Amino acid sequence: MNDLHPPATLGRPLLRDRLGRTLRDLRVSVTDRCNFRCVYCMPKEVFGKDYQFLERKELLSFEEITRLARIFTEQGVEKIRLTGGEPLIRRNLEQLVAMLAAIPGLDLTLTTNGSLLSQKARSLKDARLKRVTVSLDSLDDAVFRRMNDVDFPVTRVLAGIDAAAEAGLAPIKVNMVVKRGMNEESILPMARFFRKQGHILRFIEYMDVGHTNGWRMDDVVTAREIVSLIDAEMPLEPADPNYRGEVAERWRYRDGSGEIGVIASVTQAFCRDCTRVRLSTEGKLYTCLFATHGHDLRTLLRGGASDAEIRDVIHAVWAKRTDRYSEIRTAETAQLRKIEMSYIGG
Ligand code: GTP
Ligand code: 5AD
Ligand code: SF4
Ligand code: SF4
Repeated sequence: MNDLHPPATLGRPLLRDRLGRTLRDLRVSVTDRCNFRCVYCMPKEVFGKDYQFLERKELLSFEEITRLARIFTEQGVEKIRLTGGEPLIRRNLEQLVAMLAAIPGLDLTLTTNGSLLSQKARSLKDARLKRVTVSLDSLDDAVFRRMNDVDFPVTRVLAGIDAAAEAGLAPIKVNMVVKRGMNEESILPMARFFRKQGHILRFIEYMDVGHTNGWRMDDVVTAREIVSLIDAEMPLEPADPNYRGEVAERWRYRDGSGEIGVIASVTQAFCRDCTRVRLSTEGKLYTCLFATHGHDLRTLLRGGASDAEIRDVIHAVWAKRTDRYSEIRTAETAQLRKIEMSYIGG
């Protein structure tokens, strides 16, 4: 151990799973609801009027989430990302942000569809949120409306991004899921636009999360294709990762005008360095985005377990973790009944 770089969990051994991976990131889904119905995430035919979302009493409270977050940070977690569903539709989310921001040394961030950012950017910043990642799949209004499937106009998301930039929720990242036949024509316009704006655009390969989106490999536009398309017009060079296990592979514009990222979960799996754990809206712990089962922490919380007892359960779950779904994906695994992304959190 190098004395110049003491571990974040000073004095405690780092938790390691069966493949030697440490626990660094916690992604917390604060609601399973969303005001969009993106075709690759919450297809309308499944998430229709009769769909049973969780009831309020089933959701972890802000106090419960904060308590767990504190226990997780004591075990080495350095980054917490709030997700959903759409996190900004959870009432008074700023309150939760403020509670989590009081935990020292945390990178606290949030992934949002941007629809409510114009109203909320300032109050989120005041609650001490550090930065945001906004999902946006096209600048073409017709394409964007087709993808969100609720006729939501792109101008309002762009206004939300501007509001986040004004509030200083930086660096702002923009996530674009690319689905063949839907929005690959939007790749270049998005790259041109966000290069000018100075925000970091990341392209995500369409994944087989959940079991309702009808995923097929043919619909995946690969990271390689995306990089070569952009490189042909705006030359790129590879950039080093910001940290070990970074999900996005970074590419810099050769003329110094910024960077993009590609998240190649399908064609270049990054399970080997996966340090992420996910807490669902109702308090189940999932050690993989593609999990079929989670570990119930809510019963422990509501049954009066002590911090030490909860910590021991987290240790046990992590210690036996062997997940590496993206490395072993096949056409058959893609058909498994996996947990929906809107529930487990992107
Ligand atoms: P920062 O580097 O902190 O900005 O975050 P990040 O790179 O983890 O970005 P973000 O959380 O926005 O993740 C981007 C997208 O990558 C997610 O929305 C998912 O689609 C995908 N992703 C994130 N984590 C995983 C993972 O563990 N496995 C897989 N297969 N995909 C992931
Ligand atoms: N494939 C890839 N990315 C997805 N997301 C949601 N569903 C999928 C999918 N099937 C992304 C969203 C958002 C984040 C929460 O996850 O676009 O950026
Ligand atoms: Fe909602 Fe995000 Fe899923 Fe789209 S990708 S339906 S915005 S949770
Ligand atoms: Fe981690 Fe599972 Fe994603 Fe692999 S597929 S990177 S193990 S969350």
